Amino acid sequence: MKILTLDAVACAAARDWLAELLLDALGDGPALGFFPGLSIDGARRYWRDIETSVAHGRRVVVAAIQDGMLVGSSQLVLRDGIDADSAELRAILVRRSARRRGIGSVLVRALEAEARLLGRDRVYAEADPGSGADELVRDLGYAPEGAEGHLAKTLRMPEVA
Ligand SMILES: CC(C)(COP(=O)(O)OP(=O)(O)OC[C@H]1O[C@@H](n2cnc3c(N)ncnc32)[C@H](O)[C@@H]1OP(=O)(O)O)[C@@H](O)C(=O)NCCC(=O)NCCS
Repeated sequence: MKILTLDAVACAAARDWLAELLLDALGDGPALGFFPGLSIDGARRYWRDIETSVAHGRRVVVAAIQDGMLVGSSQLVLRDGIDADSAELRAILVRRSARRRGIGSVLVRALEAEARLLGRDRVYAEADPGSGADELVRDLGYAPEGAEGHLAKTLRMPEVA
């Protein structure tokens, strides 16, 4: 499996695949803040907004590619001001047929590496209890903080052998 960081041009080039991934990952489950019954055009519009955000340096998008197929993606939201030392994980999406093989965890770790490079060592996540994402981020060291469903982790420097 390959993990790629997508700039705005790459996001635009992959827009149709990303839109299809979003619909597949949403399935019939909880809507992740999306309107229920999101259409493929709505999903494309969502990704067009993300492309703008990436182009302005407000978001990082990573994608997981396996056997030439886009099987997952996730995002890191970057804010300024008092949030300039932190970042927020968003929309961890893994194709239904590719779940429970560690892809979601690899995507989160890739975004943590991006956060480190950007000097943002506090990472926040939001996940509904029992959603799968909640268990995933807890496994990676995120702990509840503040309101229900909010978690956070301070990134440590990787140990040097
Ligand atoms: C949540 C999601 C991203 C997990 O992706 P994944 O690639 O299957 O996750 P991983 O294989 O890396 O799972 C790592 C660990 O997380 C936990 N986990 C993942 N999915 C889980 C689930 N549905 N129920 C309970 N625990 C789960 C498990 O502890 C798992 O380890 P294990 O498989 O050894 O038991 C995926 O199910 C998904 O896309 N869901 C729909 C979209 C969504 O709700 N995204 C979260 C919004 S931020």
